[in-house]
Amino acid sequence: MTDRPILSVEELSASYGAVRALDRVSLTVPAGGLCAVLGANGAGKTTLLRTLTGLHPAASGRVLLEGEDITRLPAEKVITRGLAHVPEGGGVIVELTVEENLRLGGLWRSDRRGKAAMDEVLELFPPLVERRRKSASTLSGGERQMLAIGRALMARPKVLLLDEPSLGLAPLITKQIFALLSDLRERTGLTVVLVEQNAAGALSVSETGFVLNQGRVVAEGASSDLLADDRTRHAYLGF
Ligand SMILES: Nc1ncnc2c1ncn2[C@@H]1O[C@H](COP(=O)(O)OP(=O)(O)O)[C@@H](O)[C@H]1O
Ligand SMILES: [Mg+2]
Repeated sequence: MTDRPILSVEELSASYGAVRALDRVSLTVPAGGLCAVLGANGAGKTTLLRTLTGLHPAASGRVLLEGEDITRLPAEKVITRGLAHVPEGGGVIVELTVEENLRLGGLWRSDRRGKAAMDEVLELFPPLVERRRKSASTLSGGERQMLAIGRALMARPKVLLLDEPSLGLAPLITKQIFALLSDLRERTGLTVVLVEQNAAGALSVSETGFVLNQGRVVAEGASSDLLADDRTRHAYLGF
């Protein structure tokens, strides 16, 4: 990990009609870091990820990836620049096989190494290998989340954004998914932004964290400091 930010968000705002969901949010993510974005339901976490990836328009502010302004790029261009997104719930298509789901994630790659990429991604997720030709509907919740992460990795991102990957998973499986993200980051140098309501779990694997409340950043810092900050924990993190 270095101190050079790979992703910088500057005073980003976004709205749904009259509802201001993000209000001048600024944050930086160092290259190779694992950064948690926390906050209660409705805090603006999903809107932040959707605005970063071009799925929702920014009202004002800027998003810089490796110093380049990507704020107004359409979603498919954002992916080719290196920012991939695992949406809430994973978005796995259960009517397709594991391989077919992975192939969808490779559609935006500029090179033609789809097959090699699939083998590389499958290697990271042993439980998916033997199921590669099976319907995604046969996978458990944890395996579906793995598939969703694998699909995002097919685009060879520099930064992976995950929207509440622990949602609906048992505590043990959540631990496995968090450990997998941490391991992936160490092995590949990938930068990870982990959006979670499970603040305690996310802070235990991340180095830095940002806390959102009503669309604003209300606390930020080293994850260990946020864990030790009783006021922030009680007011915003629910533990
Ligand atoms: N499609 C939408 N239309 C209108 N308001 C929305 C929509 N999506 C989210 N919001 C509102 O924006 C705010 C932030 O929501 P969201 O980003 O989903 O928060 P989180 O992911 O932290 O739960 C909330 O007040 C929510 O009600
Ligand atoms: Mg959300």
